[in-house]
Amino acid sequence: MTEPRKMPSQTGGLSFFEDMHPPAADFRADILAGLSKPQKALPPKYYYDEEGSRLFDAITEQPEYYVTGTELELMRTIGPELRELAGEGALVLEPGAGSSVKIRTLLDALDSPSAYVGMDISGDHVRSACEALAADYPSLEIGALCHDFTQSLDVAALPLSAKAHAGRRLVFFPGSTIGNFELIDALALLKTLRGWLREGDALLIGADMRKASEALEAAYDDEAGVTAAFNLNLIARINRELDGDIDADGLQYRALWNPYRSRVEMYLVARRDMHFTVGGERFVIRKDETIHMENSHKFTLETFQDLAAKAGLRSRKAWVSAREPFSIHWLEPAGEAC
Ligand code: TRP
Repeated sequence: MTEPRKMPSQTGGLSFFEDMHPPAADFRADILAGLSKPQKALPPKYYYDEEGSRLFDAITEQPEYYVTGTELELMRTIGPELRELAGEGALVLEPGAGSSVKIRTLLDALDSPSAYVGMDISGDHVRSACEALAADYPSLEIGALCHDFTQSLDVAALPLSAKAHAGRRLVFFPGSTIGNFELIDALALLKTLRGWLREGDALLIGADMRKASEALEAAYDDEAGVTAAFNLNLIARINRELDGDIDADGLQYRALWNPYRSRVEMYLVARRDMHFTVGGERFVIRKDETIHMENSHKFTLETFQDLAAKAGLRSRKAWVSAREPFSIHWLEPAGEAC
């Protein structure tokens, strides 16, 4: 890790902002590689330009998209138990921190947390989200890190107070974001997060559960077409930034439940044969051919706990929501990862 650069004079009420310089993404190379695969695929990390982030927030408000509301309600319900488990003075770390109300719910539930550190691959994003949080929690020590959670992180070296370093580390990873990774990558990510924990620390993680295919397909293909627009926005971005001429009207969005892999798969399907150019390269897509956009894996308590166990994490407690089943897990380090 590079020497932390503290900027105590900055405004915004943050204790620190540190840029750990995550490797720069190569939009052009990644998109061209994805379109060149036998099964065309576009990397989901490019969804989130300004319009994409706006559309994502709108997805979370669609009536069919139960994930966000269900998790938040469950967080509120289990607040007293979380307070008990975490104890006083916890240091809360959030990889992939958004501007979400979930972190506020957690901080409100806890018993005088000592500090909060938000991390995101987008430095601007995490900085403004943490500044907003600092305005609402003036007495909480808050730091922001521009960091890619696939990179290593030495928590003990963060420029936090001795009090914060002495607290129990609680890593918060909500939203069933873990489900958006291929299982092998989810396992690697869990191992990475496991590496941030010492004996007695914990990972608090949300994992959406298997349910009827109708509910799942509706959640990922809402009536108002917001999730479709979110996917097609990436096509617009490619056309704009990579001098592309993909006809978005020739692509239809579809969400499909794959029971064998226990995941919702999101695709753009060609309505007809189309020839197009992106970044100076020519491509063909045939009628009914698909572009794979993203996956959202769904778990049972058992499949998720098995995955966690492989990463060296033992389940201390799991909660499932009353209506659309969604699970939140309190995981603690257990021996070594395999
Ligand atoms: N992790 C959430 C989920 O899988 C949110 C999410 C990520 C999402 N990418 C998405 C929701 C694409 C809809 C479409 O539900």
